Amino acid sequence: MVRIASVLGLVMFSVALLILSLISYVSIKKDFLLSTPRYGPNGVPRMYMFHTGFRSQLAMKYLDSAFTPLTNALSEDLQNSSKWRYNSTAFIQQRYEISQYIDIPHNFTLTRRSVRIGQLMHYDYSSHKYVFSIGENFYSLVPEVSPILNKHYNICAIIGNSGILSGSRCGSQIEKFDFVFRCNFAPTEIFKKDVGRRTNMTTFNPSILEKYYNNLLTVQDRNNFFLSLKKLDGAILWIPAFFFHTSATVTRTLVDFFVEHRGQLKVQLAWPGNIMQYINNYWKTKQLSPKRLSTGILMYTLASSMCDQIHLYGFWPFGWDPNTGKELPYHYYDKKGTKFTTKWQESHQLPAEFKLLYKMHMEGLLKLTLSHCA
Ligand SMILES: *[C@@H]1O[C@H](CO)[C@@H](O)[C@H](O)[C@H]1NC(C)=O
Ligand SMILES: *[C@@H]1O[C@H](CO)[C@@H](O)[C@H](O)[C@H]1NC(C)=O
Ligand SMILES: *[C@@H]1O[C@H](CO)[C@@H](O)[C@H](O)[C@H]1NC(C)=O
Ligand SMILES: *[C@@H]1O[C@H](CO)[C@@H](O)[C@H](O)[C@H]1NC(C)=O
Repeated sequence: MVRIASVLGLVMFSVALLILSLISYVSIKKDFLLSTPRYGPNGVPRMYMFHTGFRSQLAMKYLDSAFTPLTNALSEDLQNSSKWRYNSTAFIQQRYEISQYIDIPHNFTLTRRSVRIGQLMHYDYSSHKYVFSIGENFYSLVPEVSPILNKHYNICAIIGNSGILSGSRCGSQIEKFDFVFRCNFAPTEIFKKDVGRRTNMTTFNPSILEKYYNNLLTVQDRNNFFLSLKKLDGAILWIPAFFFHTSATVTRTLVDFFVEHRGQLKVQLAWPGNIMQYINNYWKTKQLSPKRLSTGILMYTLASSMCDQIHLYGFWPFGWDPNTGKELPYHYYDKKGTKFTTKWQESHQLPAEFKLLYKMHMEGLLKLTLSHCA
């Protein structure tokens, strides 16, 4: 009796599974039909994503109607990026406007002269009650002078971490820039065909130690972290340790590690103080005031004082590829099959940021690359 019941159960389970897989097959097929790229006369995928289709409706959910004319221009632009023209007058004007809000070369990092041992630091995004006391070790890692003081580069690239870079083959193009900014210690080695390897500066949120290096608890974790840093010899590691009070513990772990390996590492450390209010005030004048600006637009703000021209790659906060219509992961380095996340949309307002960056692209202030590189 028990055996018959279990066999029956198994059969019912299999039938249910069959029905479920049929349903998903049909919906995948529907998806596929809606997202198959159409090809232009010479086999180049033609932009269609913004005109029709289920996924563009999904995107429109995040975009207001004022964005629609932009998206049409964007689809044209993707077909022919050689139409873009740099407007140095507009760029220099913007650099000047930003300098009215923040002195980037000096406020890029705390320096020995701007802090003292025993000083209590507060955090940009945490309650004022939280403090971090500057100890001797921390102080010894603060640079004498800002590493970007009097540094000027011709054409810089800022590499965002969007999944749009997957399969882009933009690596060799990115290698050619004079100065390459990256965000959040993103891996490059195994993605070099798409994102390049050159790194002249990367941001390093202390929480990365928790997420990817197990708080440096084992010998292996420490070796891994050491090797990752070694690859950045000569580059600037820009560490926002005073944005969130939750960074305090990992910051101390990080500081101990750097003190211990001081002689062996050639990465240049930079520790920004509480600069976000100044940067926020500038972007507010452009009608952008999210709870938190993204690291990408923060890098753009810093780069505006160091570079004569700025090109952006990997800035695309949507879950589908405008070139192929295929689904995208959030980051180019996310594990295969990771679903696009919208968890940052609320605090960062990435679509609004993108819209502004795209407007700046149209004005010739910056060049946004969304297409694949030849
Ligand atoms: C792209 O635009 C440029 C300038 O407008 C033009 O010379 C070029 O032929 C165009 N290329 C394609 C592939 O349409
Ligand atoms: C460049 O930007 C300036 C300032 O925004 C503007 O007045 C000018 O018309 C622009 N030039 C071109 C060629 O678009
Ligand atoms: C920013 O730089 C100015 C000097 O240009 C300095 O007085 C100020 O303390 C700095 N602020 C921060 C948060 O680094
Ligand atoms: C940028 O980094 C590359 C290596 O990643 C290095 O060869 C180059 O000299 C650096 N450029 C500057 C301006 O520091």
